[in-house]
Amino acid sequence: MVATAGTTEREGWSSRTAFILAAVGAAVGLGNVWRFPTLAGENGGGAFVLFYVGCVFLLGLPLVISEIFIGRTGQNDAVGSIRKVAEKSGAAKSWSAFGLLGVAGAFLIVSFYSVVAGWVLYYVGVMGADFVGALTAGEPLRGALVGESQEAIQGRMGDLFANPALLLAMHLAFMGVTLFIVARGIGSGIEKAATILMPMFFVLLIGIAIYGAFVGNMGEAVAFLFTPDWSKLTPQVMNTALGQALFSLSLGVAGLITYGSYIKGSAGLGPTSVTIAFADTGVALISGLMIFPIVFAVGLDPAAGPTLVFQTLPFAFQTMPGGALIGFLFFVLILVAAVTSSISLLEVPTAWGIGELGWSRRKSSLTFGTGAFLIGIACLLGYNVWSDVRLLGFWPLFAETDILDTVDGFTGKVMLPLGALFTAVFVGWKADRNLVEEMTGLSGFWLGIWRFLIAWLCPLAVGAILVTGLFPGILGG
Ligand code: PFF
Repeated sequence: MVATAGTTEREGWSSRTAFILAAVGAAVGLGNVWRFPTLAGENGGGAFVLFYVGCVFLLGLPLVISEIFIGRTGQNDAVGSIRKVAEKSGAAKSWSAFGLLGVAGAFLIVSFYSVVAGWVLYYVGVMGADFVGALTAGEPLRGALVGESQEAIQGRMGDLFANPALLLAMHLAFMGVTLFIVARGIGSGIEKAATILMPMFFVLLIGIAIYGAFVGNMGEAVAFLFTPDWSKLTPQVMNTALGQALFSLSLGVAGLITYGSYIKGSAGLGPTSVTIAFADTGVALISGLMIFPIVFAVGLDPAAGPTLVFQTLPFAFQTMPGGALIGFLFFVLILVAAVTSSISLLEVPTAWGIGELGWSRRKSSLTFGTGAFLIGIACLLGYNVWSDVRLLGFWPLFAETDILDTVDGFTGKVMLPLGALFTAVFVGWKADRNLVEEMTGLSGFWLGIWRFLIAWLCPLAVGAILVTGLFPGILGG
């Protein structure tokens, strides 16, 4: 049943495990399996990766605790929750405005997220059809797309991009599933999806990673991903790495404030947050170790950009035993991860509509789901009919980027770090200390460390990276 605001008790997770599964589901997504390898490849590997991991644990983890703290204390949508914490702490209620920034960010992200997930859906279809072909030919263990040349396989992505109707159909299907789950609510929608899909995700991930370790060029991949060339760590690369750490952990757009607000019982936030951060980073690294051995084994360019995963892997699966099956399962894996994340993204504005505008869940999810769908259409047209459009062309940082990359870049490089900055200053400096202690369950040594990171390191580091990344000229470079 669809609950309406104010008429029934607010929804919530059925258990701590349910929350962890949903939060890990939100964190683990296209950001790990598609965006992380893409960015690691484009930004030169090792130095980016190590800086990224540093961002996750020194900046991301304290922010995970902070966002969940706000949600759990506020028991409301992002804006309402921040307002509540501000009230309880004697701080100005206008702090809740940064919740609105998060709502807007999540709404924008889900619009292009669904387009990219649509590409994944298309590849599930392509690889699935190929596997069925292998089965009917009595060769279940053959490679993928046997008989197609490398150009033909890589050309599939170009064909897809040149076909707005196909892109639109995939985007529509994915957004439809997202909307369907979110409209069903927390218990029978989001929690149910997470408890079914996340175990499935991990089984697939481990299976494919073991397979990859046997067939790929692991040595070169490990060297690429973990040997730092610090000269490559420019302010822009740091900005990208920080943005990616925030994106991957679902921070800065109130995703964890919103999910945290559905926690009912009491439990320490430290261990829960550490679980989320480790699971998320582990999956990103495993994805890198799954993709780059194959990239190097077939001599492809690691800096290929957003098409890396789609153009590289189907070709690589061709030469591998069982590639037809594994290729299919690989794209199913990405799709599963994308669903549990996109529902968390759509939930942010949906909860806001319910909490602040008094809408029913059905109306709120439908409104924001449709709105995001429409913006997504502009993103996908940016690959064909609107390929010349440069939304923020006046800004050197976005002078060359198409519509999808602009929305992705603007949310990732500007909105997420800003949201994170406000969260850190608010929780580190404004929130009542006793309330923080009570609601996070942190004490002693760990409380001290966390407080230092959130009050000092996060605002300074995030602020510095934001300024130098966005205005490269500032360092004279
Ligand atoms: N963390 C997701 C990913 O890595 O794909 C993306 C995301 C989900 C960002 C939810 C923000 C959010 F609130």
